[in-house]
Amino acid sequence: MGGITIHKVAGALGAEIGGVDLSVPLADETIAAIRRALVEHQVIFFRDQSLTPEQQLAFGRRFGPLNIHPYVAGMDDHPEVMEIIKEPTDRINFGGGWHSDMSFLETPSIGSILYAVVLPEWGGDTLFASQAAAFEALSPGLQATLEGLNAIHSAEREYAPTGPSAQKRESMKIADAEGMAGRFSHPVVKVHPETGRKALYVNPAFTMQFDGWSRRESRPLLDYLFEHSRKEVFTCRLRWRPGTVAFWDNRSVWHYALNDYPGQRRHMRRVTVDPAAD
Ligand code: SIN
Repeated sequence: MGGITIHKVAGALGAEIGGVDLSVPLADETIAAIRRALVEHQVIFFRDQSLTPEQQLAFGRRFGPLNIHPYVAGMDDHPEVMEIIKEPTDRINFGGGWHSDMSFLETPSIGSILYAVVLPEWGGDTLFASQAAAFEALSPGLQATLEGLNAIHSAEREYAPTGPSAQKRESMKIADAEGMAGRFSHPVVKVHPETGRKALYVNPAFTMQFDGWSRRESRPLLDYLFEHSRKEVFTCRLRWRPGTVAFWDNRSVWHYALNDYPGQRRHMRRVTVDPAAD
């Protein structure tokens, strides 16, 4: 295992990985061990890293092609690197609600790698919720019903001109999706391609309705699932330190960036991994 250590941080998901420096080119077997830890623990944390944008890109590319966000401008030289910045004067943070990254695309991302550059003195933690554990806690009857359903995902609400994601921020360039957001159907229960484990795949930010159902018909069951899926027992919480890296599996994890540090600055860098082309 090349000296890698793995310590679980909570019952449902999350593990801290030690003994690896992400800034250097890693051996294939080390990447394979990290990938195994990711799919097993769903979100993994690395402490005390020091990554340039180029090094973060190189690490991310070992797991698949990197996404260029359709609405959030990346770095000038590296469009795949998103800088997630809340300035002291910004009110609304980015990612401040439960969601799974990029579920609004036809081909959603498989994972996100977030690196902490500058952190507030207090607050700014990120919460994660295992949608595999949430699915497994449902009754067999509801599980079977959900396995037969698809749901429509879109950025049309979250990235609308009035939506939380598209709000003006001092140091982020975010376009609104008015008239541009597609609508894509995804299975409500995702079978993980690497583990076979099933997970709920609907989220409050981007899931609009069940496919073939009206919005009104969809609302009660979606509300039930959104309430269920964020139960504390399915979650873990990351207290960031400068240099911490979190890598989560968007196929089975929701996350939520807390906005509890008014007047302070928080600066993160994210690369988002797409599935490999067939
Ligand atoms: C996000 O990718 O949604 C942002 C998460 C964070 O800033 O903690």
